[in-house]
Amino acid sequence: MSGFGANHLEAFWLPFTPNRQFRREPRLVVAAEGNHYVAADGRRILDATAGLWCCNAGHGHPRIVEAIRRRAGELDYAPPFQFAHPDAFTLAARLRDLFPGDLDYAFFCNSGSEAVDTALKIALAYHRARGEGQRVRLIGRERGYHGVGFGGLSVGGIGPNRRLFGPLLPGVDHLPHTLLEANRFARGRPPHGGAELAGALERLLELHDPQTVAAVIVEPVAGSIGVYPPPVDYLERLREITARHGILLIFDEVITAFGRLGAGSAAEALEIQPDLITLAKGLTSGTVPMGGVMVRREIHRAIVEESPAPEWGIEFPHGYTYSAHPLATAAALATLEVYREEALFARARALAPVFEEGLHRLRDLPGVRDVRNLGLMGAVELEPRPGAAGARGFEAMRRAFFEHDLMIRITGDTIALSPPLTFTEAELEQLFSRLAAVLRALD
Ligand SMILES: Cc1ncc(COP(=O)(O)O)c(C=O)c1O
Repeated sequence: MSGFGANHLEAFWLPFTPNRQFRREPRLVVAAEGNHYVAADGRRILDATAGLWCCNAGHGHPRIVEAIRRRAGELDYAPPFQFAHPDAFTLAARLRDLFPGDLDYAFFCNSGSEAVDTALKIALAYHRARGEGQRVRLIGRERGYHGVGFGGLSVGGIGPNRRLFGPLLPGVDHLPHTLLEANRFARGRPPHGGAELAGALERLLELHDPQTVAAVIVEPVAGSIGVYPPPVDYLERLREITARHGILLIFDEVITAFGRLGAGSAAEALEIQPDLITLAKGLTSGTVPMGGVMVRREIHRAIVEESPAPEWGIEFPHGYTYSAHPLATAAALATLEVYREEALFARARALAPVFEEGLHRLRDLPGVRDVRNLGLMGAVELEPRPGAAGARGFEAMRRAFFEHDLMIRITGDTIALSPPLTFTEAELEQLFSRLAAVLRALD
């Protein structure tokens, strides 16, 4: 870190971070390998969050690193409008094989936020193409996180993220969130309330007229808000109601795809077939920014194959300069090989019960209000300090990093855990003993 003076910390405006506090107490990492980061002061930090829910294959995997290096030397960039490069098609075909049912087409972008906005636009274009242009309403869920584009913010349901930014998209409504008092300390999918919570969709449809609704978008497991696994029967009922009314169901799998639930997708793990799936993060194991949307055959057919546009006409006017960027496709192809060859989804499945056991051992520590988990996603919710919501969680994150060499993620007073799928049982043990020490030290 030679030459890195205090004034270096001025110009970069950090996202979703208290910037003034950060400048006083920077949490800098300078390298990463396997399941660890290296902090600027040389400490090895156990990565209990896979970066930001994304480095599912661990850090610095030689195969992925080499694929990116090689590609940068061969094809630095290829325009995705009117031209393409072969890897884009290879990757789309691999993803088609990975996702269940007839999610046969992939549209590429660069982030989860872009994937969500793309999926919402595909949904609207689909109904329009079928002569149902009155279907313009979108339904999200309270406390849902779908990124920070205006589309994703609109269907998203986290108040503080939305408040500053005006009225957002018109014609959007929200289902109730799924965190119920009755389900505290549930292991895996919570037992209570699924059918009733999904029933709220019927009430919204009654209010708005189902014929005006284009799509319902949900995270199969709400991640960013602090890991809310779907109650038993909940997603099943949402699927049944949306199908009955010709409404598309979008699973936002930016976090849950690529092994987090022990399978290629939550759709596969939970055996529910959505119409569109959004992806990002684990697609390249976090190495190169990339997002995508998986699309069912019928939707692609209506918009593209049956388009009334002339031969030279564009069927769907949407895309990004860096859609299917060659470095991203190289990273994604290598990542998918690593997932397969090292059987990382099966490994996640095998680790999940050990993770669950270790996580729920924390329930009796002081200040713990709830513990939740599904697959390799987990949360420990802390009691807020009176009049200072979020302060206890923030202190847990700081102490974990500086005093216990542990990287955890926080949302308010909830600690979220999502280790790389490459964690060992010994590393899980370390994670929970360090986290227990953090929680014991909090007042
Ligand atoms: C479910 C979900 N959707 C969308 C996003 C936004 O992704 P990005 O930050 O890559 O734009 C996230 C990010 O955490 C997410 O968890």
